[in-house]
Amino acid sequence: MTQKIGVIPGDGIGPEVIREGIKVLEAAEDVVDGFKMDLEEFNYGADRYLEEAELIPEEGFERLSKKDAIYLGALGDPRVPTGVLEQGILLNLRFYFDQYINLRPVKLYPNIPCPLAGKGPEDVDFYVVRENTEDFYVALGGRVKGKKSEQLEISRSIYEAKFDLDLEADADEIAYQIGVISRKGAERAIRFAFELAEDKGRERVTSVDKANVLSHVYGLWREVFEDVSKEYPDIETEFSFVDAVTMWFVKTPEWYQTVVTPNMFGDIITDLGAMIQGGLGLAPGGNINPEGVSMFEPIHGSAPKHAGENRANPLATILAGQMMLSQLGEREAADRIEQAVIDVLKEGKVRTYDIGGDSTTSAMGDAVAEKVRVG
Ligand code: IPM
Ligand code: MN
Repeated sequence: MTQKIGVIPGDGIGPEVIREGIKVLEAAEDVVDGFKMDLEEFNYGADRYLEEAELIPEEGFERLSKKDAIYLGALGDPRVPTGVLEQGILLNLRFYFDQYINLRPVKLYPNIPCPLAGKGPEDVDFYVVRENTEDFYVALGGRVKGKKSEQLEISRSIYEAKFDLDLEADADEIAYQIGVISRKGAERAIRFAFELAEDKGRERVTSVDKANVLSHVYGLWREVFEDVSKEYPDIETEFSFVDAVTMWFVKTPEWYQTVVTPNMFGDIITDLGAMIQGGLGLAPGGNINPEGVSMFEPIHGSAPKHAGENRANPLATILAGQMMLSQLGEREAADRIEQAVIDVLKEGKVRTYDIGGDSTTSAMGDAVAEKVRVG
């Protein structure tokens, strides 16, 4: 079966890491019988926005909805006010395709320096299931009292804030933003986590929230977690507050098997997770709609200061490609890619700067692609 993949290289280092990701996918295509891809590139990102004042055209959504998956580099550019590309492209796609799961494996691969003293690959290997369409990400909020009282279009409000702040300053001005948890939204994310735990033979699911303070929203989250957990009597469960979990991830990462958490906390704790798995250069993620079009990306950003240097570590993107194939049911190709990454790291000859070497982005892509080919 031919897998139709929409590719969005994006901004900054995005195109460089995506190029290596595709190199590796194509190597797998060459050697795995029955695995074929049909790639189509979409130029969404800063350049297009600055030239055409457009983020994603209507027909872009239509074309992407005919794909089996989306492979994304990174978004964000210093020439565009913060939030415009992230919200207008990345979050828009997550919401449009109802990618309600953000799956982020936290796995320390061999030969990767771990910043936690005395911890190795056997200690850092868990999944974070981040709910991906609710919580503080629903963009429900506003500003009142000051002149900026209407909800302005994002880029305009940022420009106004930047240039007119003093003129419009009003000490009474307030802003509010509301987090939303729905029973349905919580349930589908929590159920996904339990199914994943079962599937991967993990004995424990930890729910991370802040129900002691934000008891309306996370109180509902907890209720749903308790309800769903009854259907999985063989899986151990626990609740942890998000502040505490940042401490325990560092102290005893080996305790964690599967973690499920609302969107905002999931965003924060997976950057911490990335560090304990050796850095952002190694952390992939999947925005998953099990019944629809899913999108895979490294969890790092566009790192504009490294753009064009052929220096960034492409492994997060390569591993995101591996997750994509696994989601598409291309088991053999996915396994081959993960094994190739492990082999390259074990050999230790090709290492990018973030993991103590001086190899280039493309050298890392070449090395993994080569291993995929030889098997
Ligand atoms: C991430 C990013 C995004 C998020 C931003 C860029 C909108 O930080 O994927 O973790 O907050 O989800
Ligand atoms: Mn993030």
